[in-house]
Amino acid sequence: MKLADNKATLSFSNGKPAIELPVYSGNIGPDVIDIRKLYGQTGMFTYDPGFLSTASCQSAITYIDGDKGELLYRGYPIEQLAENCDFLETCYLLLKGSLPNATEKKSFTDLVTHHTMVNEQMQFFLRGFRRDAHPMAILTGLIGALSAFYHDSTDINNPEHREISAIRLIAKLPTLVAMAYKYGIGQPYMYPQNNLSYAGNFLRMMFATPCEEYKVNPVIEKALDRIFILHADHEQNASTSTVRLCGSSGTNPFAAIAAGVACLWGPAHGGANEAALNMLYDIQNQGGVAKIGEFIKQVKDKNSSVKLMGFGHRVYKNYDPRAKLMQQTCNEVLTELGLEKDPLFALAKELEKIALEDEYFVSRKLYPNVDFYSGIVQRAIGIPVNLFTGIFALARTVGWIAQLNEMIGDPEYKIGRPRQLFTGSPRRDVPPIAKR
Ligand code: SDX
Repeated sequence: MKLADNKATLSFSNGKPAIELPVYSGNIGPDVIDIRKLYGQTGMFTYDPGFLSTASCQSAITYIDGDKGELLYRGYPIEQLAENCDFLETCYLLLKGSLPNATEKKSFTDLVTHHTMVNEQMQFFLRGFRRDAHPMAILTGLIGALSAFYHDSTDINNPEHREISAIRLIAKLPTLVAMAYKYGIGQPYMYPQNNLSYAGNFLRMMFATPCEEYKVNPVIEKALDRIFILHADHEQNASTSTVRLCGSSGTNPFAAIAAGVACLWGPAHGGANEAALNMLYDIQNQGGVAKIGEFIKQVKDKNSSVKLMGFGHRVYKNYDPRAKLMQQTCNEVLTELGLEKDPLFALAKELEKIALEDEYFVSRKLYPNVDFYSGIVQRAIGIPVNLFTGIFALARTVGWIAQLNEMIGDPEYKIGRPRQLFTGSPRRDVPPIAKR
């Protein structure tokens, strides 16, 4: 970051001396006012719950222009990456800052491929869960448990440890997500197959059984790989900020990523894809397209807690570019599977059309986000609704790791420790119980 040719002056109406605050610029996007010395100079904090106006760090990984609806991974537009690269190339880009050449791509792919198995002991963690446990509960547990198997690489300040932990997490997440699924349906786990692609291997671990050969459908394989690319990283979202804050204590990478999984589970964040599909099911069961008007009325009614799941975004005040690509992927998969007439897809497109013409959504700049169509395409592939957020976590793991490593590599980083505006009771003495 570089000092801008601009300064911020903070003056107070009560006569307190004004202070000057430096302004810094990045390469693109809003400048920042450096308030690090504010408390020391004024005895006051800033106040920004939800961090609507707060930059928590400097980063060179992902840039979002919410007004333009633009998303760049290390400067490359998401549309071009989805078209020209695969997920492991995108992982390499996010982790290392540049796209791999053919040799680099092959060695990175081989490295990930040869770390896809998990320790056989991992299956005993699954046995502790009920068969109907939510996969995100299982994954939060399994990923935290991984740290118990890699005592050779839990020092987050050691670059080699960070490197091998990144490979292990990227490689093992598909295996763990597939194991959570198989455990839930009572089928045996399928071991990774090294001659398959990252997405192909995941499909086989999910849908194959030991009883017969499994053939990966190349259209589905490509669609799933693209879904992973679309979810790979997204600036300082809630779960990434969780991973950074957790990692800032110096804890191991597996524990920090497990914290990210726990945060992503929430319906306001990664859990929205599961909630969006359940919302479409509800409308469908109550009458489908004919019921959209009534549903929209509920959403606009402040007394109802009904939201249009898969719509709206803290940063995008235009169409989420990932939603457009997800809708295209939806079309490709439904056509490949002969489900073009899928009523839920038709319902989603009609719901989007009506919402985008409604003043309530237009005035609040609410557009479809990445979660609006992702559930429809995952359901068509055969992924159960309660596993959608697990797929999101699988893909976002590389973004979390890249952001965590960037933070640890930043000489300026400190343990995150926000302050507060205290509205509780001033000091008082404890009365004897007879007087309470
Ligand atoms: C993800 O941060 C990221 O980058 C996240 C993510 C990533 O890749 O990591 O992009 C992934 O989490 C996408 C978002 C998935 N969540 C949903 O689809 C859930 C539904 N969306 C909303 O909960 C909401 O839009 C949020 C949480 C996504 C954003 O909330 P904000 O920025 O705090 O916005 P807000 O709640 O202040 O909304 C502004 C207004 C409010 O109405 P008013 O008070 O002005 O009258 O818009 C309304 C909100 O009530 N509103 C919605 C709405 N989203 C916002 N009303 C109905 N339906 C919605 N979906």
